[in-house]
Amino acid sequence: MKITVVGAGNVGATCADVLAYREVANEIVLLDIKEGVAEGKALDIWQKAPIDLYDSRTIGSTNDYSKTANSDVVVITSGLPRKPGMTRDDLIATNANIVKSVTEQIAQYSPNAILIVVSNPLDVMTYVASVTSKFPRTKVLGMAGILDTARYRAFLAEALNISPKDIQAMLLGGHGDTMVPLPRYTTVGGIPVTELIEKDKLDAIVNRTINGGGELVKLMGTSAWYAPGSAAAQMVEAIVKDQKRIFPVCIGLEGEYGIKDCYLGVPVVLGKNGVERIIELQLNADEKALLETSRQKVKEVMEVFDKMA
Ligand code: NAI
Ligand code: 2OP
Repeated sequence: MKITVVGAGNVGATCADVLAYREVANEIVLLDIKEGVAEGKALDIWQKAPIDLYDSRTIGSTNDYSKTANSDVVVITSGLPRKPGMTRDDLIATNANIVKSVTEQIAQYSPNAILIVVSNPLDVMTYVASVTSKFPRTKVLGMAGILDTARYRAFLAEALNISPKDIQAMLLGGHGDTMVPLPRYTTVGGIPVTELIEKDKLDAIVNRTINGGGELVKLMGTSAWYAPGSAAAQMVEAIVKDQKRIFPVCIGLEGEYGIKDCYLGVPVVLGKNGVERIIELQLNADEKALLETSRQKVKEVMEVFDKMA
């Protein structure tokens, strides 16, 4: 198996490191446009192998896509991160051009790859990769829901003083202020979370989750990378090992949830073919309304890209 990670910045390098450490593939290529950075970070990850005892080879490349040829999965993290005061949508113009040019080259060298987009604004960048690559929709996916649910699970674990391992959660919608965490589909060791925590505390956790990315940008002056890098690696692992795991993943909807022509996070089964099934939850009226607001927000930014193209 061969995996390429485009963008050797904070998220990309972390993702490549997790993939190597977990031996998800025997060959990992890290590519960046900045001279020497990907080679340096790949070499550093490889030099950690004798200490951490893994044998995945990590190779760096400065913009030479021939080294990425015939990758099975490609993670796209290239693009600017947010600075304090910026929304993810403020990144559209710069990142759309970067994601478009990266996707063109990936599609040329790895025409059968499954793409996992991480660059922001996430749902729209997944759309950009999809229209550029013309790959089937089940093979162009966006990573955000695993990160957003991980934040929600971590906050719940802290509030309940319970292991995060025992918290299961699902979430819908775009990666931004309109994401739709689903307390009704959250369980703790099989027990509905609503039986274990007061409503006002749960509402505060949902709100903190929605603003979870911004909380980190305020603290660090740039966006997060450890949890995002691991989340992207978890998607790669589910595909490479054909695990059939259920995750919230961004995909182009074609009628599911009554939505067409929009890229949004929904629960899917992830395996060797990419998205193998989209799971349609029975939403109540409030959840449907929140999802519709999210759809409208993402669609507006998709239209900004359409006008640019
Ligand atoms: P970073 O600035 O640390 O790394 C980005 C890398 O992309 C840089 O090394 C840069 O040289 C490279 N790059 C730029 N143009 C390129 C091109 N044309 N070809 C190859 N490489 C190129 O940024 P960071 O923190 O790694 O974030 C990357 C992206 O991921 C941002 O857009 C950020 O907003 C997004 N993000 C998305 C998350 C999600 O949940 N979907 C979570 C965290 C970050
Ligand atoms: C995050 O949620 C910035 O999208 C990135 O951390």
